[in-house]
Parts: sequence; C-alpha cells; structure tokens
Amino acid sequence: MQTIGKPRVFSGIQPSGGLHLGNYLGAIRNWVRNQDKYDNIFCIVDLHTITVAQDPAALRENTLDLAAVYLASGIKREQAMFVQSHIPAHAELAWILECFIPMGWLERMTQFKEKSGRERERSSTGLFAYPALMAADILLYDTNFVPVGEDQRQHIELTRDIGQRMNQRFGELFVLPEAMIQAAGARIMGLDDPEKKMSKSLAADATGHAIFMLDSPDVIRKKVARAQTDAQPEVRFPAGPGVTNLLEIYRTIQDKDWATVEKEFAGKSYSVLKTAVADTVIETLTPIQERYRQIRSDDGALMQQLRGAAERLTPIANTTLYRVQEAVGLR
Ligand code: TRP
Repeated sequence: MQTIGKPRVFSGIQPSGGLHLGNYLGAIRNWVRNQDKYDNIFCIVDLHTITVAQDPAALRENTLDLAAVYLASGIKREQAMFVQSHIPAHAELAWILECFIPMGWLERMTQFKEKSGRERERSSTGLFAYPALMAADILLYDTNFVPVGEDQRQHIELTRDIGQRMNQRFGELFVLPEAMIQAAGARIMGLDDPEKKMSKSLAADATGHAIFMLDSPDVIRKKVARAQTDAQPEVRFPAGPGVTNLLEIYRTIQDKDWATVEKEFAGKSYSVLKTAVADTVIETLTPIQERYRQIRSDDGALMQQLRGAAERLTPIANTTLYRVQEAVGLR
C-alpha cells in the first residue's frame, strides 16, 4: 500500500458526450503536459453516467469518443485508460462501501440535491449512491491524488471519510486520497454568457455557448463571431467579461501572458480579435480532430486497447477488493 515511485493519480471522466474547449484548456491539456510526472489512471466512468437516463447506443458511442479524444489530445497509449464497467471490482467495492456509509452522509451531498432537484422521489437509487461508487473507484487503486473541479471536493471528502472509518474499524485497508484542485488550468466561460463557466449542460440550451472539440472550422468561426463582446468601440482595457474571455482563450492556447496579449490587441477591432481567436482555436483543434478520426476509424483496435488496460489493472483492483472482503468476513 505504500507509494513507490511516482504518485498515483486517478481521474474519472464521464462519457456523457460533447467535450468542449473549456474541458480541453481547463483540464485535458494539463493532463497531457503533466502525464509523465504521475502514475496516471484514466477511468471512463460509464457506471456513473447511467445514474441518469442514457440512450444505450449513444452511451456506447460516447465511451469510444471520449477515449479517442483523449488519445488524440496526446494522452499516451501506454497510460492506463480504461472503462469502469470492464473491471467488476468497482461495483463490488461500491456495494460494500454502501453498507458502511450512513444515509445521512449521502443525503448531505450537494450534487445529489442539485441533480435530483424536485424529482427526488423519481431519481435513481444509483444517483443517490453515486459518491460510494466514486469512492470505490479511487480507493481500489491506492490513489494519492484525484484531479477534480471544486464541485467534486465534497465527494473526495466522503471518500476520505469512508476510507478512514473502515481503516479505524478493520485496520489499514485504504490509502486516503487528496483532491488535486486544478489551479493552472484556464477557466473558460460561455461565449454567449461570459459570466458562466463553459459547460455541456448550458450548451444544450444555446448553440452559441460552447465550442466543442469536434466542431468543424466553419462552426468554430460562426460561434466565435457571435460571441459576446463589450459595449466599447474597440478592444480597450480594462475589458469586459466577453472580451476578457476571448483573450483568455487566445492567451491560454498561445501560452502568452496578459501583458503581451493586451499590447497585441489594444485598440484593435472586435473582428480582428475574433479572427485571431478563431484561427488559433482551429489551429489547435484541427490536428486533434484528424488524429481522432484516425483512431475512430478502427474501433476494434481502440476497444482492444481499453480492454487491455482493464486487464492490466484488474489485479491491482482485486488486491484491494480481496483485502476488504477478507476484513469484513466475505472471504
Ligand atoms: N464524479 C466525477 C465527475 O462528475 C466523475 C468521477 C467518477 C470521478 N469517479 C471518479 C472523478 C473518480 C475522479 C475520481 O466529474
């Protein structure tokens, strides 16, 4: 259970479709850049995704898409990227944890309250138990760090709480993980509403909200052209939220500091700014899209890679599962 070598990082990503520029610049790109510093496990959490209604064909498609986009973005093939449901230990450990997690802990989870909303009585039991499955994901691999957004911090706390509770009762079963709240990643806002973080759910209601990683150059140009700007005749500083967001996209992609981009665009028209933003976004996404198409042209090979990773990870997951089963009297 001791960490030897690089710290282990476990990332869980939902295959619910539509990765956007905010995901890329805020998270994926950093993972690609930092991948050699850690012992990374990338888990496509399909069991979490079915806690809310899914179209089966779409779920299958989104699972492959997610894997392909990550690989196309530069996650190396030798990294451990796998599909959660391919390793049965996740569901099994989740069940055991559920038997030790008091209802009250889960009732306090803000994500459940938000996601279930007024539909509480009709939302699935899986949605309620979601944090137990997430805790199982993390604890199975003796994870040291979990990169998550602020919205997931409470789930990491619960993971630590249940780990600690079981360690106290049964002896050292689990390594307690820490949240790694991404500081370096850019915070990209909606193009249509720069007060709100770019998000898949907001994109469902407004086509101009998000740039998706698989959007064509044409679509990207149209979306950027329609992006909200300021009520000033040209780019001036301090800029409003719309212009700031466009500059943030540009700056992040180009790895430039604020002073440099301010100098570059001060006094320029919005159309000059927007053309520059669209150009740099297209330049970044086009090679990713090309690699994506190449990877998706052979789904058999992609699936084989995912299955292979699951096979390599299964012994690690089972070591933890058996330890727990033994401790509670199941083995
Ligand atoms: N709940 C996470 C989210 O929605 C996804 C997730 C599932 C996860 N299991 C995980 C994240 C384990 C980190 C570690 O973003």
